[in-house]
Amino acid sequence: MKKLLLLIITLGSTIYVNAQTEVKLTINQANEQVISKHIYGHFSEHLGRCIYDGFWVDENSSIPNKGRIRLDVVDALKKINIPNLRWPGGCFADEYHWRDGIGPRNQRPKMVNTNWGGVTEDNSFGTHEFLELCDMLKCEPYVAGNVGSGTVEEMAKWVEYLNFDGVSPMATIRAQNGREKPWKVTFWGVGNESWGCGGHMTADYYTDLYKRYATYARDYAGAPLKRIASGANADDYNWTETCMKNIGSRMWGLTLHYYTIPTNNWKAKGSATQFNEEEYFSTMKNCLKMEELVTKHSAIMDKYDPKKKVALVVDEWGIWTDVEPGTNPGFLYQQNSLRDALIAGTTLNIFNNHSDRVKMANLAQTVNVLQALILTEKDKMVLTPTYHIFDLYKVHQDAKYLPIAFTSPEYIVGNNKIPALNVSASQDSTGAIHISLVNLDPKNKISLSTDLDGLKWKTVTGQILTSAKLTDINTFSNPDKIRNSKFSGAKKSGNLLKVELPSQSVVVLELK
Ligand code: AHR
Repeated sequence: MKKLLLLIITLGSTIYVNAQTEVKLTINQANEQVISKHIYGHFSEHLGRCIYDGFWVDENSSIPNKGRIRLDVVDALKKINIPNLRWPGGCFADEYHWRDGIGPRNQRPKMVNTNWGGVTEDNSFGTHEFLELCDMLKCEPYVAGNVGSGTVEEMAKWVEYLNFDGVSPMATIRAQNGREKPWKVTFWGVGNESWGCGGHMTADYYTDLYKRYATYARDYAGAPLKRIASGANADDYNWTETCMKNIGSRMWGLTLHYYTIPTNNWKAKGSATQFNEEEYFSTMKNCLKMEELVTKHSAIMDKYDPKKKVALVVDEWGIWTDVEPGTNPGFLYQQNSLRDALIAGTTLNIFNNHSDRVKMANLAQTVNVLQALILTEKDKMVLTPTYHIFDLYKVHQDAKYLPIAFTSPEYIVGNNKIPALNVSASQDSTGAIHISLVNLDPKNKISLSTDLDGLKWKTVTGQILTSAKLTDINTFSNPDKIRNSKFSGAKKSGNLLKVELPSQSVVVLELK
């Protein structure tokens, strides 16, 4: 019965999904809410092979590069319109002393990366290199400042170094290091996971510290900082409450970190490539927890900030599995399957649907770490299924949000069930409507019949990401096993949009 769905979409109206289930889908064209492009942001930490051997190649490398920045990686990220890149951590940020990463590279001090594998960090990739990377990517930098082990003065001087245009001690050193003009960085993190690796603080203690650090991280001409406070771990609602109460409008954004752990067990998280349907189900259930987290954190924020001026910034999210066998456990290198693509599509739908409060998000992490977009091996590069989702969903960036309400069919395993279908929609500046649909059910397709009465459209086209098995992956020897392809399962039939949504798939439709 759940297999045959009739979905009727009307403007501000009611939808029917199968003979029994009444589904409401509202497309409110008067709505002015925009899906911020910064929801589609990324994260690059000095961790494992993300920076070194990911973005950054050896001095005499034969891999095509510009100033040691890998060009194939840059081109791939430009193609998905990467809007911002967070750096240098993560946990690493609270142990990073930025002055070690400027000036002649052969004179930069080395340090131990105590968080990630105990390897020696040579500081060859520092402030100038990161900002050169952002320039090449044409994306905005998001710098995370050190609260855990750094001083207020250190953070204040970093901001001066980056943003002051004039004669000052830091601007002079910047010029000596080859950069006359300031970069004007505005996204500014004040610590990371201050409840954990960033100092194991209480919420009250952190909020006092936040105010000290944030006060002296100054706004220089043309570079007003968007200060971002270190927010909650998953469902730590007290942390959000305390930050809203004590910091309030002194911040532009407040973060939330949540990782999908397949097994719910941090000591044995589960394999990235070998899992059965039960583990797939529990993974997707954990992924869908993001909906609850964003809803509940937003409700707390609404109490203190009803006009929604403070952004919820989900600047670490994604699936976290066991590392690939044989790799350094401190490097967090994991493969990426069709399951990861379904997680990405679902999570981005959740963020789109909460774009009144979620204004920024950063997948962890861009290259070779956790739910990576890109894997590299010497001169080879693989675009993961997750990468292809960001390619499909880029149409939502800065588009007008179209709210949707509906009742989903269920995906049932044993005595447990989750919604099989999740959706989000937007309208871009040309008037084109994009609907992204995810079917989490690995066995059953979903048939949708949607009445778009009131919306003017003549054609529907689409793209799909799916594969025969949930465990399918792209490898260096078979890099294109999973990739987007033309979707021919949608058609206009009279006034109806009819869609046959295959099992375990992500589809993005364009209506014009
Ligand atoms: O993304 C990996 C790590 O996860 C980050 O360094 C930290 O902030 C989080 O615990």
